[in-house]
Amino acid sequence: MKKNLLMWDETLFRDPEVFEIDYVPEQFNHRDAQIRELAFQVKPGLRGARPLNTICRGLPGTGKTTSVKKVFAEIEETTKKLVPVYINCQIDNTKFAIFSQIYRRVTGHPPPPSGTSFKQVFDAIARVLQREEQVLLVALDDANYLLYENEINQVLYPLLRSHEAYPGVRIGVVAIVSDMSVTLQTEVDARVASVFRPTEIYFPPYSEEEVHGILEERVLQGLYPNVIRAEMLDLVVEQTMKSGDLRVGIDLLKRAALNAEREARRSVEREDVCRAYEVSRYLHLAFSLRALKAEEREVLARIADMSARDDKEMNAGDVYRFVKEQVGGVSYTKFYEIIQKFDSMRLLNLHYRQGRGRTRLISLRYDPGRVLEHLGQEQSI
Ligand SMILES: Nc1ncnc2c1ncn2[C@@H]1O[C@H](COP(=O)(O)OP(=O)(O)OP(=O)(O)O)[C@@H](O)[C@H]1O
Ligand SMILES: [Mg+2]
Repeated sequence: MKKNLLMWDETLFRDPEVFEIDYVPEQFNHRDAQIRELAFQVKPGLRGARPLNTICRGLPGTGKTTSVKKVFAEIEETTKKLVPVYINCQIDNTKFAIFSQIYRRVTGHPPPPSGTSFKQVFDAIARVLQREEQVLLVALDDANYLLYENEINQVLYPLLRSHEAYPGVRIGVVAIVSDMSVTLQTEVDARVASVFRPTEIYFPPYSEEEVHGILEERVLQGLYPNVIRAEMLDLVVEQTMKSGDLRVGIDLLKRAALNAEREARRSVEREDVCRAYEVSRYLHLAFSLRALKAEEREVLARIADMSARDDKEMNAGDVYRFVKEQVGGVSYTKFYEIIQKFDSMRLLNLHYRQGRGRTRLISLRYDPGRVLEHLGQEQSI
């Protein structure tokens, strides 16, 4: 047997946990300003006043969820007077589901049985807050999932106007959005807007240097020494930057190390990273598609159809005509808004060709078949 092969019961992972999707890293740099700002916003809650409402906005993988969770954990360690409740709106995206979570956290009881009226649930929450003189802080993560059938107003209205029905009850909201085109402030009713008035905290994308530092940290924690050489890390960083999402990098490290392990190697080689990238690169696609509205999914699917036929840069005008035939009622303005959004989400590239006049060109950044697959659609052409 060749020397230096990994034995079947050996592993390259010092701590596999650090590559898991829900892992909250201890080392969390580059977000001090955002965390400080968030702490400032919620601070009135520590003195029994209503926390200032906040929107955390930034592209996927910019540390929004982690920052909020860090601040919430600190609040929990410090005081019982401010009660933070974290809601994942991808999972709990109805008014009843959200208030059930709040009920569970505030009262310490299991969620109320379905059939309990909303008023009973809210009465119970308010009673505890009044009795314990507690202030409530609710984080609505991926709040863009509430932007259908008015759900966002249904949720924000009772939270933000609670003091009217229950004197002394104070509730603040932190909404988190990764959808750069959504401005929650304009999506909400006037009666919600007048009490919401959030401050926005922006989470910019990480620079290449920052991504390098963050991934290096994970490698040190999660893998044994020399498993990933410097040039392999550079390759991972390069591919992470291409995708624009830090999660791709974390996933790449894990998959590349697993690939090396499968080959019984003690270190990661270029082929391990490249093979891993074939899977990890679609992580961003999968995450991005989560947040799209039905109409946007339709438009993207048709762009993918067309891209599958032509497989090159497409003229935006031609694409619009094709989309309009297939998805009735989309105006050019709306269509253009949608493709700009796709561009900002890095689903496609929108650029110009200089020539007679300026022609707008669209090219999909993903294999059209993959896009359709992730959208749950078969290629229609
Ligand atoms: N500054 C950082 N240091 C270390 N790890 C980080 C940092 N920022 C983000 N991460 C890691 O990157 C991943 C994505 O972060 P997070 O979930 O906080 O992003 P997000 O902005 O909420 O993204 P999304 O909008 O897609 O939900 C997580 O695994 C997190 O641990
Ligand atoms: Mg998040």
